[in-house]
Amino acid sequence: MFCLEKKPEENSGPQNVALIVGVTGIVGNSLAEILPISDTPGGPWKVYGVARRPRPSWNADHPVEYIQCDVSDAKQTQAKLSPLTDVTHIFWVTWADRPTEAECCDINGTMFQNVLDAVLPNSPNLTHICIQTGHKHYIGPFEAFGKVKPHETPFVEDVQRLDAPNFYYTLEDVALDACKKKPGLTWSVHRPAVIFGFSPHSMMNILDSLCVYAAICKHEKVPLKFPGKKAAWNCYFVASDADLIAEQQIWCSVDPNGKNEAFNCSNGDLFKWKHFWKILADKFEVEYEEFNENQDYVSLVERMKDKGPVWDEIVKQNNLTPTKLEQVSTFWFVDLMFGWEFLEQYPVPPSIQSHLQEYILNDSATSKKLKRNNSLEISINEARQPILEDTLQQIKKLLPQYETKLSHIFQEGNQANQLYIAQHFLYDINPENIPSMLAAAFHLSDSDILVVSVFT
Ligand SMILES: NC(=O)c1ccc[n+]([C@@H]2O[C@H](COP(=O)([O-])OP(=O)(O)OC[C@H]3O[C@@H](n4cnc5c(N)ncnc54)[C@H](OP(=O)(O)O)[C@@H]3O)[C@@H](O)[C@H]2O)c1
Repeated sequence: MFCLEKKPEENSGPQNVALIVGVTGIVGNSLAEILPISDTPGGPWKVYGVARRPRPSWNADHPVEYIQCDVSDAKQTQAKLSPLTDVTHIFWVTWADRPTEAECCDINGTMFQNVLDAVLPNSPNLTHICIQTGHKHYIGPFEAFGKVKPHETPFVEDVQRLDAPNFYYTLEDVALDACKKKPGLTWSVHRPAVIFGFSPHSMMNILDSLCVYAAICKHEKVPLKFPGKKAAWNCYFVASDADLIAEQQIWCSVDPNGKNEAFNCSNGDLFKWKHFWKILADKFEVEYEEFNENQDYVSLVERMKDKGPVWDEIVKQNNLTPTKLEQVSTFWFVDLMFGWEFLEQYPVPPSIQSHLQEYILNDSATSKKLKRNNSLEISINEARQPILEDTLQQIKKLLPQYETKLSHIFQEGNQANQLYIAQHFLYDINPENIPSMLAAAFHLSDSDILVVSVFT
């Protein structure tokens, strides 16, 4: 975690006051959990949380002042949010979907502006706005898939906007405009990949939907078929943990290095859905089935279209919180992720060097974390295990000044296929040197998979 020293006088009352718009969403719920923790940077935080529906039981434990408000309604937003006079930070973790992207730009821009119009004039200490968008910044909105040429991977934050309407761009423009008008107000934009997190109120929750699908397969005693295309089964994929995104937003809120900049945010490791599929089947104790390219593609929406009554039975049998299938699943989103031809090139893993560049060099948040004295864990696929000792020798040659520390670390963390480099070792290495250093040290070839994770 982050380590910021608090001044004694700051411990007396709330130092910062958060307004989470979308508090029951996939990242909103993580923010609601993390912000009130006593040692969260910038704390103690007082937290307001906004959503339209009544507060759900699974969100009720967080010490958050819950405000039921539809921010697409300007009058209601004024009535509910203008009485707040102490907001210092806005966390924008909501969105609205509409049939066309032009309409999405309109409604999302309006929702954001409604909140700013209510908060800006009444909360004079507002200092920072975090806006969560995502990788569609680089590949275009859903309606543009296959029509607009996406940016090449690896995605870097400062590429030019694509030539297509995109509500992510609208949100940025609204934030920039607000910051121009209020001196001292700063912004940060957070661009995760597909998010892994907890929220049954999320409009796009791939894990939640896959778990519901697995529960239905188990209940019906049928194998867990992969409801996607071959490209999705085989491709490398990146995900962004909801807690990690929340922590990145909090870091930007309180650290001068996090201001007026966009940040990608991904877990830093790669996985394949084919491997995930085995884990999902095991967890739900349902028969695992390999992808079969001789079977016709059937979308998950189609597979699940008559399963409402099955879900009702599952809820009853297991004494679950009463919900309807359509409330706890977003099967359309799974279909989009698993049916996507673009996956063949996303993310492109032509060589290990580019993985490393993507996850270390071009993820500014990760680079900054490395610069901020954190640790790095390197895992290598089993076939390469015997080279670990050799790797160590190589790293020693490349970085002779770290020889003693490395030996020590290597002996301590001598796990089968992992090399753990502790934070004191990384403290003063320029992150830009790490990819080439590792590529050389591991004698990497294109068939190797090297996973690099950064721990705070
Ligand atoms: N989910 C992903 O995998 C993913 C991946 C990459 C990027 N993103 C992007 O991240 C951004 C935020 O999405 P998210 O997925 O984190 O959100 P989400 O999980 O769908 O949560 C939305 C939250 O906003 C609330 N909300 C919706 N409409 C509202 C309104 N009119 N007034 C007040 N509250 C409202 C919802 O609760 P109520 O329904 O009760 O109002 C919920 O708390 C979006 O731009 C999205 O495209 C998401």
